[in-house]
Amino acid sequence: METNINKIISAKGKHKLSMITTYSFFQAKMAEEAGMDILLVGDSLGNVMLGYENTLPVSMNEMRLAVKATRRGAKNAFIVADMPFLSYQTSISDAIHNAGQLIKDGANAVKIEGSKEVKTIIRTLVDFGIPVMGHIGLTPQQINRIGTYKVQGKTEKSKVRLLEEADIIENSGAFSLVLELVVEEVAKQITDRVNIPTIGIGAGRYCDGQVLVWHDLLGINTEFTPKFVKRYGNLRDMIVKCLKEYISDVNEGRFPTDENVFKGE
Ligand code: KIV
Repeated sequence: METNINKIISAKGKHKLSMITTYSFFQAKMAEEAGMDILLVGDSLGNVMLGYENTLPVSMNEMRLAVKATRRGAKNAFIVADMPFLSYQTSISDAIHNAGQLIKDGANAVKIEGSKEVKTIIRTLVDFGIPVMGHIGLTPQQINRIGTYKVQGKTEKSKVRLLEEADIIENSGAFSLVLELVVEEVAKQITDRVNIPTIGIGAGRYCDGQVLVWHDLLGINTEFTPKFVKRYGNLRDMIVKCLKEYISDVNEGRFPTDENVFKGE
């Protein structure tokens, strides 16, 4: 069934939204088949698909490939595309051009990290018909300034700042808001305060929805599992086991067998 922005917005208080990252055709196909509310083509693509140390090197071209593949895999899904580092900070016209490109590639909306510094960008994009999902709390594109990936909202000052930032995002016209690594009680206050759905990652139980990274949820990235991740499978072990079996079959001559070969007349 097709999901549109109105269904996402009106879910608040009625239905908890599910969002997962996808970057490729088959991931998108599977997520849509499972009935996911939102597919996020996250710039976490840099970490989990391309092996970068953080999200900063991710380019528009890399995002565009992932958005196009995701749309080809999930024809009717609601797709949000992350705007990568420096695709919107440089000028309003760059932001419009790059966000427009992601929409032309198949996204229904874009996601932008930050608050006060991006409020004009959000307002402009929304006015031009490009829906924006905000993203506050831990904002990975700021890693060089903040130093470490740490939980936000622990002090009174940080809590007040987050509440103000949520107001700014809502007032700028964003249709929803990601809260990353935020103390549960603060995420709850934000969720109660704004009229747009909040989607948490490491932000506790009271958000209007949850998002996880594909490789974390499925147990593919097992090198580091943060406390907030729930692993629903152990695909890495399963895949390595299959690959080992294949290698041994090839080595021992058990593959291909009679049923895998072509024969002439
Ligand atoms: O890029 C990403 O995967 C994200 C989520 C962590 C929200 O932005």
